[in-house]
Amino acid sequence: MASKKIIIIGATSGIGRALASVYAAEGHAVGITGRREALLREITAARPSSYHFTAFDVTDTAVNIAHLEALVATMGGVDTVVISAGGGNTNPSLDFDVERRIIDLNVGAFTQLAGWAFNYFKTQGGGHLAAITSIAGIRGSRQAPGYSASKAYQINYLQGLRQKALKEQLDIAITDICPGFVDTAVAKSPIRFWIVPVAKAARQIYSGLEARRDVVYISRRWRIVGWLYRLLPGWLHKRI
Ligand SMILES: NC(=O)c1ccc[n+]([C@@H]2O[C@H](COP(=O)([O-])OP(=O)(O)OC[C@H]3O[C@@H](n4cnc5c(N)ncnc54)[C@H](OP(=O)(O)O)[C@@H]3O)[C@@H](O)[C@H]2O)c1
Repeated sequence: MASKKIIIIGATSGIGRALASVYAAEGHAVGITGRREALLREITAARPSSYHFTAFDVTDTAVNIAHLEALVATMGGVDTVVISAGGGNTNPSLDFDVERRIIDLNVGAFTQLAGWAFNYFKTQGGGHLAAITSIAGIRGSRQAPGYSASKAYQINYLQGLRQKALKEQLDIAITDICPGFVDTAVAKSPIRFWIVPVAKAARQIYSGLEARRDVVYISRRWRIVGWLYRLLPGWLHKRI
């Protein structure tokens, strides 16, 4: 198997960190990012031949691209970009500051990062863009309206890029990684079930990315449940 160059945006903890570890263990070059520079240093120090890093806050859209271009230059190119930086909170009081932080991260920063990766791969003649969305994006959620709406945005944005790549005959794969509940610090939903250990989730994501799948459900049962949830009539959805 040819060695890849993969950048994982948001790899200091959780799913991104576990996925970075799988790629590094498989012998690929891995660029990792996040705000917590000490963690990036610690991860890199454990396997310096595999990792490269840069620390930045993705919601600072004035500096994102410069950081990514510097990382790509250090790595000598990139063929896969995974956006794992994301998150959100339940927001029963609909506090606008909470919703705005979610929008800045899951919509604003995501859009800039995804667009940068797509255009980079277009210029290069191919590549693979993936992002971690959520089952929460399938339908609106009373516990976390901003979070579920932001994940719906990501799901639709990725669909748009997939259609664009095909129509423009670009060799760019777009993968939507759609988890239910993975055992990380961000999983704050009051309703949690079928929780997948983060290492297991990372291995499933790795397999899905290697197969260049359009959508990877974590765990796999969410493919069926998600399909049924989409079909749930509006009159019933609003009562749950
Ligand atoms: N865990 C679940 O059950 C679950 C379910 C569905 C979807 N997801 C999605 O999976 C993705 C990863 O979440 P996770 O569970 O792995 O949570 P996590 O452990 O909190 O990881 C989030 C990663 O994103 C980075 N990040 C967050 N905000 C950032 C910012 N402003 N700038 C730069 N980096 C930032 C964090 O790094 P720093 O803090 O160092 O910046 C961290 O490395 C998220 O998009 C989340 O919505 C998770």
